[in-house]
Amino acid sequence: MKLTMGHLSLSCFCFASLPVLSLLLCFLPPWAIADLNSDKQALLAFSAAVPHSRKLNWRNDTPVCTSWVGITCAADRSRVVALRLPGIGLIGPIPPNTLGKLDALQLLSLRSNRLMGSLPPDVLSIPSLHNLYLQHNNLSGKIPTSLSSGLTFLDLSYNTFIGEIPIAVRNLTQLSTLNLQNNSLTGPIPDLRFSRLKHLNLSYNNLSGSIPFSLQKFPNSSFLGNSLLCGRPLAQCSGVPPSPAPSPIPLPPSPPPKKHKKSFWKRLSTKAIIAIAVGGGFLLFVVAIIILICIFKRRGRDASGALKGKAIIGGRTEKPKEEFSSGVQEAEKNKLVFFEGCSYNFDLEDLLRASAEVLGKGSYGTAYKAVLEDGTTVVVKRLKEVMVGKREFEQQMEIIGRLGQHPNVVPLRAYYYSKDEKLLVYDYIPAGNFSTLLHGNKTAGRTPLDWNTRVKVALGAARGVAHLHLEVGGRFVHGNIKASNVLLTQDLDACVSDFGLAPLMNNHATPSRIIVGYRAPEAIETRKYTQKSDVYSFGVLLLELLTGKAPIQSPGRDDVVDLPRWVQSVVREEWTAEVFDVDLMRYQNIEEEMVQMLQIAMACVAKTPDQRPKIEDVVKMIEEIRQSDSEPRPSSEDKSKDSNVQTP
Ligand SMILES: *[C@@H]1O[C@H](CO)[C@@H](O)[C@H](O)[C@H]1NC(C)=O
Ligand SMILES: *[C@@H]1O[C@H](CO)[C@@H](O)[C@H](O)[C@H]1NC(C)=O
Ligand SMILES: *[C@@H]1O[C@H](CO)[C@@H](O)[C@H](O)[C@H]1NC(C)=O
Ligand SMILES: *[C@@H]1O[C@H](CO)[C@@H](O)[C@H](O)[C@H]1NC(C)=O
Ligand SMILES: *[C@@H]1O[C@H](CO)[C@@H](O)[C@H](O)[C@H]1NC(C)=O
Ligand SMILES: *[C@@H]1O[C@H](CO)[C@@H](O)[C@H](O)[C@H]1NC(C)=O
Repeated sequence: MKLTMGHLSLSCFCFASLPVLSLLLCFLPPWAIADLNSDKQALLAFSAAVPHSRKLNWRNDTPVCTSWVGITCAADRSRVVALRLPGIGLIGPIPPNTLGKLDALQLLSLRSNRLMGSLPPDVLSIPSLHNLYLQHNNLSGKIPTSLSSGLTFLDLSYNTFIGEIPIAVRNLTQLSTLNLQNNSLTGPIPDLRFSRLKHLNLSYNNLSGSIPFSLQKFPNSSFLGNSLLCGRPLAQCSGVPPSPAPSPIPLPPSPPPKKHKKSFWKRLSTKAIIAIAVGGGFLLFVVAIIILICIFKRRGRDASGALKGKAIIGGRTEKPKEEFSSGVQEAEKNKLVFFEGCSYNFDLEDLLRASAEVLGKGSYGTAYKAVLEDGTTVVVKRLKEVMVGKREFEQQMEIIGRLGQHPNVVPLRAYYYSKDEKLLVYDYIPAGNFSTLLHGNKTAGRTPLDWNTRVKVALGAARGVAHLHLEVGGRFVHGNIKASNVLLTQDLDACVSDFGLAPLMNNHATPSRIIVGYRAPEAIETRKYTQKSDVYSFGVLLLELLTGKAPIQSPGRDDVVDLPRWVQSVVREEWTAEVFDVDLMRYQNIEEEMVQMLQIAMACVAKTPDQRPKIEDVVKMIEEIRQSDSEPRPSSEDKSKDSNVQTP
């Protein structure tokens, strides 16, 4: 022992005065490297065994921590602590003895791939693992029963897992989110008494039995689609008395799993404890010094490379990452500005890491649907050609944020501003836009939009525009009203979008982008937009809804050119039902309402701006259509009600 020490301290002569230290120092780096090396080998084994449609730049001869995509290392770069490969096209089973060997891993995200087969037990039992995201794959078999006790976020939703929820989840005292929806799990729900559990989703499985008392505080949407499940918050169990009255004192959380270690300490004699403490204390001290030295050495070596940052994988494809974050500077990564009253809980880095898909290229830039790791979905709009400075930009954002406080307007939730990149974060409005719904549903096999829905959308959109016109001192102009800028919620409530951005843009470029069919004649001439030209555009939207024809000149279709002129000519000549959408003809007793709506629309598209009504008046007129509506119309209304009835 002594000999070895002396021998080694010769080669490490710089630390000759501290032989023990030098001994450890000469050994420690190889240990650390061995660990990073084993991580590297495990990752290479994984990428070799699992085919992936997008290329990974993982090569044996490049440094793991600084150049491999999807990898995050500990601060001292000694271990891999996070692996994120969402939507990278991984296909096939996860081989055992690959990812399970990453035993310093804290976060693993392989969501939205096409992984299949059973989940190897060694992954879920990595002792350091906190966050696991495997949703939206095709994993099957049973959920492994050995679970790492440190798990805080476990998402296995949208797979095809079978069998029971392992009883071991009761040991996960740190768990805050458990998502298991849309699998084929069976059996009872284990009692999970942890106060930290905030999000639970067990919907759309085949679970059975009564819901444990500890989980009755969750909403019924946590348990949907399990026909054999009963008890609060779902329907009472039949033949079984209602669950016991709630006890006022919360049940204590189950004991932390580390308890048995304490009893081990108890069993040792005092002497042994002192001996261990002294020896251990000295060892800890030495190791701490060595680690400090190592860190300083590395820092010095890597100082230049450290700030460059590594490539983070950008979600579904690598492209969106490049697209909506290429101008984000490393130093500004937390400058996402949220508006008050917004319940989102993410930062810019989370956003950049989200899987993104292009929703469309609009007048002011490209819109992406971004799904964050925790499942939150938002829309990110990446603006191009912003011509104003930071101060002005922020002021305009305040206005847009304020205008968003209305049920018929799409709220802006956050924004990011830097020299090279401007991002806006909006709520994701799930049912798409009115244009798609109106015209898209005409294709074979789909039900065309019924009259009641069309009136509902018209009224909602009118209220949204009226809100915009009345706020900000009554001077605000939308400037780009069209069917595709009216978005629809799940309940088909209309939300007006895409407003307030024109002042940020290059003035010369804006007007020509607005679709010709919706532009008021004076706005085409003067290129100036007013509230009256908004009303004109809104009138065109009403005509579109009545006729089922789009006011856009699409190549190969010469039937629609100028919707107002076409309607005027038809109406002038014969005043027949010929203008109306043939799909509306199947409904009874709505002709009068359609004629009333047509009159409102015609007033809105009057040639001279002064003859057009104010949008508030338009709202009132549409409301009147509904009020005069006294007769029940079984054809449409009752049908839509029927489809909402839940069969127990
Ligand atoms: C999922 O796996 C099953 C077989 O386990 C297969 O039949 C099914 O097509 C797969 N689904 C997808 C979306 O790959
Ligand atoms: C839960 O933890 C306790 C103590 O650590 C252990 O004895 C028990 O087997 C665990 N339960 C399951 C189901 O893993
Ligand atoms: C989840 O399951 C429900 C019920 O089967 C289904 O309506 C829904 O589309 C599923 N979601 C996904 C994303 O598969
Ligand atoms: C659900 O489980 C029950 C037994 O617990 C079984 O009879 C039924 O077929 C299952 N349903 C589905 C859709 O898997
Ligand atoms: C879920 O709860 C809401 C309100 O708490 C209720 O309106 C709805 O009918 C419930 N749904 C089911 C399926 O029980
Ligand atoms: C659970 O997931 C289903 C989709 O499968 C969704 O409809 C429901 O709202 C979710 N519940 C909660 C509480 O998030």
